[in-house]
Amino acid sequence: MIFAIESSCDDSSVALMDIDTLELKYHRKISQEAEHSIYGGVVPELASRLHTEALPALLEGVKPYFNQIKAVAVTNTPGLSVSLLPGISMAKAVALALNVPLIGVNHLIGHIYSLFLQSQMSFGFGVLLVSGGHTMVLDISDSGVISVLAATSDDSFGESFDKAAKMLGFGYPGGVFIQNSALKCEDKDKFKFTVPLLHDKRLEYSFSGLKNQVRLACESTKAKNGTISDQDASCISYAFEQAACAHIIDKLSRVFKQRGWRRFGVVGGASANLNLRSQIKTLCKSHDCELLLTPLEFCSDNAAMIARAGIDSFKNGKFSDIFSLDVKPRSSIDGLYI
Ligand code: KG4
Ligand code: ZN
Repeated sequence: MIFAIESSCDDSSVALMDIDTLELKYHRKISQEAEHSIYGGVVPELASRLHTEALPALLEGVKPYFNQIKAVAVTNTPGLSVSLLPGISMAKAVALALNVPLIGVNHLIGHIYSLFLQSQMSFGFGVLLVSGGHTMVLDISDSGVISVLAATSDDSFGESFDKAAKMLGFGYPGGVFIQNSALKCEDKDKFKFTVPLLHDKRLEYSFSGLKNQVRLACESTKAKNGTISDQDASCISYAFEQAACAHIIDKLSRVFKQRGWRRFGVVGGASANLNLRSQIKTLCKSHDCELLLTPLEFCSDNAAMIARAGIDSFKNGKFSDIFSLDVKPRSSIDGLYI
């Protein structure tokens, strides 16, 4: 089995996956959402301290399987350096103690592997990666080379949901609060937000202007009524979610016209958004393209996807040096071989 650790942001997670059958034998996650919620976002120092408490506790559950572990995979890039560090430290300690190889895994490649948790990956497909830290359209060529076709110039899709949720007084992470609140809006025309970069031919995303539209809507509603009612918050959520998804689809449709993808996958924490999923389903259908979706429970950060990515590295003999593998808070996946 491969033992995997994920701690790049605010989830501490461990997994054990069978190298031959890809069966997920063990998977546990301790999320820090409640602790960060009061601040409306991730506080790095707090995240780091919580990882150093959670990871050793999670390791206890893995101990009975120690004699079956053939390699240790760990997320080493990209992410918060203070969050990655406790994961890498534990991975190195376990690899040294068990005398097995260590495999550094790129978190974004891990998300791509969440589409193939229980199956072989075959190359030649497109991917939309939408998380709290990233918004990217990727091409995975027939030979497995990753090209970044579009990215965001400011906030990510998920981050914009978190910030909109904070302005509306919802909890963190904001995506699911906005999604659920939007469903309760009774007057869908009450707020209308413009879709970013709609007439701009560049294949680029930008969510900061949309975030500003939410701020202005909150301020004008408060100025008029003294408060933001639940119904107004729902209709602001609705208008925001509609515009954010329309922005993703607008640029994605342009990419679809250029690429003859036969398969397209949506990954990352924000790929759990049901509105986005349904619009991408329609887009794929109109291009006769098979839609690959990550099971909802594996959209957000988890060690199962790191284990799955680690297995292919293991099979290809791609190991990391135990002493030099380091935290890399930023890294580009453009041009990387998956
Ligand atoms: O992949 P992930 O767990 O962490 C990062 O690698 O960033 O993604 C977390 C992000 C958060 O910004 C969260 O608000 C967003 O995914 N998210 C959603 C939904 N569920 C989670 N965004 C929109 N709609 C959702 N249903
Ligand atoms: Zn992630």
